[in-house]
Amino acid sequence: MSIKTGVFVCDCGTNIAGTVNVPEVAEYARKLDSVVFVNEGKWICSVDYLSKIKQFITEHKLDRVVVACCTPRTHEPTFKSALKEAGLNPHLLEFVSIREQCSWVHKADIAVATQKAKDLVRMGVSKSILLEPAEGIRIPVGKECLIIGGGIAGMTASLAVAEQGFKVILVEKSANLGGILGKLDMVAPANVPAEKIIAAKMEQIERHPNIRCCTDTVVEQIRGYIGNYNVKLTQKGAAEDIKVSTIIVATGMREIEPSGLFGYGKYPGIITQLQLEERLKNKQLGPVKTVAMINCVNSKNDERGCCSVGCLISVKNAMAIKELDKDVRVYIINRDLSLLCAEPDYLKSAVAQYDIKLLRYSEDKPPDVFKSEQGGKVVKTYDILLGRDIEIAADLIVLTAAFQGDETAGRMKELLKVSANRDNFFQEAHIKLRPLDFSTDGIYLCGCARSPKRLKDTVEEALGAALRAGIPMKRGYIESEGIVADINLEICSECGLCHKNCPFGAIELAGKQPFVIKAICKGCGICAANCPKEAINIIHFTNEQILAQVEAALSERPQEQIIAFCCHWCAMGAVDIAGVSRLQYPANIRIIRVMCAGRISESFVNKAFQLGAAGVLVAGCEFPTCHYITGNYKCKEKMERLKKKLAGKNIEDKRLRTAWLSAADGPKFAKTVREMVKDLGL
Ligand code: FES
Repeated sequence: MSIKTGVFVCDCGTNIAGTVNVPEVAEYARKLDSVVFVNEGKWICSVDYLSKIKQFITEHKLDRVVVACCTPRTHEPTFKSALKEAGLNPHLLEFVSIREQCSWVHKADIAVATQKAKDLVRMGVSKSILLEPAEGIRIPVGKECLIIGGGIAGMTASLAVAEQGFKVILVEKSANLGGILGKLDMVAPANVPAEKIIAAKMEQIERHPNIRCCTDTVVEQIRGYIGNYNVKLTQKGAAEDIKVSTIIVATGMREIEPSGLFGYGKYPGIITQLQLEERLKNKQLGPVKTVAMINCVNSKNDERGCCSVGCLISVKNAMAIKELDKDVRVYIINRDLSLLCAEPDYLKSAVAQYDIKLLRYSEDKPPDVFKSEQGGKVVKTYDILLGRDIEIAADLIVLTAAFQGDETAGRMKELLKVSANRDNFFQEAHIKLRPLDFSTDGIYLCGCARSPKRLKDTVEEALGAALRAGIPMKRGYIESEGIVADINLEICSECGLCHKNCPFGAIELAGKQPFVIKAICKGCGICAANCPKEAINIIHFTNEQILAQVEAALSERPQEQIIAFCCHWCAMGAVDIAGVSRLQYPANIRIIRVMCAGRISESFVNKAFQLGAAGVLVAGCEFPTCHYITGNYKCKEKMERLKKKLAGKNIEDKRLRTAWLSAADGPKFAKTVREMVKDLGL
């Protein structure tokens, strides 16, 4: 049966039609293979036009639809729904972006923009011919949530999940709830005793019928996926297996021990802020006359940014020392004081009411701690405001140390197959769009497990994570896209690489034979791109479909073209931002979308060069923000290897370029294209 493709080209008012000759593009589309129907619309995403699309699908018995309009990142679901409502499988849609990738970025020359729009439509139609229907996968989700970590984030999240009517198992590794908050004396800026906050939460947790609280309990193993997590817990050696549908990670943080810094560990009487909290709690400061606090220890340097809470902690504790003994002299030696969101007069009252001395140092002249001839400790610092050195004979030196994720974070990262940064703070799926989700469905994060934060922010995040976890549990299921890996076992050599490479544990082995757990597979394509036998395909992004796009792009004037393989998330985000910002760049680039840079096989790049492409650009998310955890790393390694191989074939280094972008990097994307065009002499 021959394929019947319908092409719908949008004017987008004048957004497209102002630069691209749309009737000419529509006329061109009519002549393409398999195209039986073409229509131009003023706004093809409007409700009226969408019903027309449905009508055209039925009337012309269309079995493929190509829309040439804005960006798939915002409008693909709208058109997919239209196909579904017309009784056509939504995966039979191909999206061509002639606004963000064409009319908005090549405004100077209508002929050039029109030609590029035709090329993009040709590429879209070539892929659409090879599209196959796919089914979304519906996974049932139950009503039980595991919350790991019994600090204030875990306690707050537990209560918020339980209040929605779901069952909660709250797991805490130590004997008591409270986490790092339990180690504090008072909480700034309101100066509420930390113990009081914890006691109130504990009481609510104990009374709540939906919460089971397990202290002294360790998470040993986690297997499965949203709706079906099998977790092994051990409580004082006794093992228990539980089943939960969702997981919230609230494992908190700890201080980085400042060993070897400012005399810590070398001289007595040098402690951290958390150790000071202990003394403040017990109301036992010791025989102390002068306290010098040194801020930004191990932070605000080349390796680590601002810890965001250290300044507030130092001011709070300086005031607490004065409350204990008003005669103690307290100095805060700081880089500058960032009291984000603290009460406006907090610092003023610290200085005026409590007579706390502030000294400011610069990064290149940090304070020095040494022993005086009399044997006492001295802090010498250059105050940048006074413009001179100051020496303080201090009985107690308190270091405001940086923080890192809890000691369990490394193991938890392995168990959950999620990512964390160098300091073992967990990494969210997307810092702006999904700040409380992991990339893996059904797992959420909050509080200091993500980054150091104040109590208020921690509580807000915990409430947010509880609501995020509640969404699939309330709905009772999730529906995955159907973009998943498909293994051809006839070609597979059972090397097991796909099983090793999958960042989500979605490929299991039965003996040596791999099989895909479709419910977990995210369709990133890392397995496919690294399969030595090319035995794996990704539905909707198959090797054949991508190669068809490459061939279509290079079927005319290949020596002028740069093929760009861009990941759907940050790279395409940058492409779209360049469009929205109307950044102008040369029209030589032809973008092929993949879900992740990890999907880009060597064979795609090789094919482009074989067909005479002037250059190839491979673009993915900046490190470490790949939406599929390891895709950009894998891609970078592969492209470095490939560059060496290409050198052997006399393909110059400059013809293959990589770009690692944030979704806001429109200017960087446009600049990369300009540079490439210039370097390649196009
Ligand atoms: Fe962008 Fe993986 S999603 S590189």
